[in-house]
Amino acid sequence: MGGPARTVKKSKPRLFVTGGSGFLAINWACAVRDSWDVILATHRHDVALVGVTAVAVELGDARSLGKELERINPDLIVHTAGLTDVDRCEADPAAAHAANAILARVVAQAAGNRSVRLVHISTDHLFSGDRALVSETEPVHPLNEYARSKWLAEQRVLDACPDALVVRTNFFGWGHATRRSFSDWLLYNLRAGQTISAFDDVYFTPVLADQVVTWIHELVSRDASGVYNVCGDERLSKYEFALRLVAEFGLPAGLIRRASVKDAIGPVALDVSLLSLVGVVVAYLIARSLF
Ligand SMILES: NC(=O)c1ccc[n+]([C@@H]2O[C@H](COP(=O)([O-])OP(=O)(O)OC[C@H]3O[C@@H](n4cnc5c(N)ncnc54)[C@H](OP(=O)(O)O)[C@@H]3O)[C@@H](O)[C@H]2O)c1
Repeated sequence: MGGPARTVKKSKPRLFVTGGSGFLAINWACAVRDSWDVILATHRHDVALVGVTAVAVELGDARSLGKELERINPDLIVHTAGLTDVDRCEADPAAAHAANAILARVVAQAAGNRSVRLVHISTDHLFSGDRALVSETEPVHPLNEYARSKWLAEQRVLDACPDALVVRTNFFGWGHATRRSFSDWLLYNLRAGQTISAFDDVYFTPVLADQVVTWIHELVSRDASGVYNVCGDERLSKYEFALRLVAEFGLPAGLIRRASVKDAIGPVALDVSLLSLVGVVVAYLIARSLF
């Protein structure tokens, strides 16, 4: 879509999402575009989505970001942009630092300067993986460059914008042409009849991207700030996750082969499962009609 953001009078609250061509941002826009005026801030890849505006923004340049925010006047900023390829982060720590820690600080300062609510998307990768189901208060122990840059990002965000909501998560769902998700990759290969190796000794608590968006908006509506785990309520190995996927899509389970992380290269956390009460609390509040 590209071009300047709309300057029409607001009929809906306005949401500015960085990393606009990314997996989460596109899922976010599709999930809320009926109730929010969504502006996706893009970088190298353009986006064309019905009912959503895309605008190229130089996030690293505080002055131009400030001008864009002045013009767009968002009610909520969601920062999803970053370098998410763990291998690239490992190969180029400076790029990881720039895209994850520095951009997050610039966006947080811009949000703080304008007193706009900020949601910063962090990760479950912050832990060494020696414990299951870690809560938000556990000390972090990032093992690789991606995790270190994301941990630094959290600190920079909360320094610059203490009311920010920092969300640690790990999601799945449908990706798109330029960005396939882990589940897309699995389905694509399985449908092509390829055998997939999945770790049975690496654990996580995956959650559908749409569900992440719903819970975050509920947290925002309740003025939540600080660090929250927003994740699924089941701790699964990557192998178990792959088996669930083949069952759901009627594909042969024989295509999934058990593998061990011991055969992987580079520092990998064995267990990044998060403990979250968000889903439980939200379900309770909805049931009691407290929202
Ligand atoms: N995917 C997961 O399961 C997962 C799990 C835990 C946490 N997270 C976190 O969730 C967030 C969103 O993840 P995702 O999977 O949606 O990411 P993604 O698909 O890899 O998208 C990243 C976005 O960031 C943009 N970007 C990268 N470098 C940039 C730069 N220097 N300046 C401006 N924009 C830049 C990219 O734009 P271009 O492609 O145009 O450069 C892209 O739109 C990330 O912060 C990630 O750390 C993701």
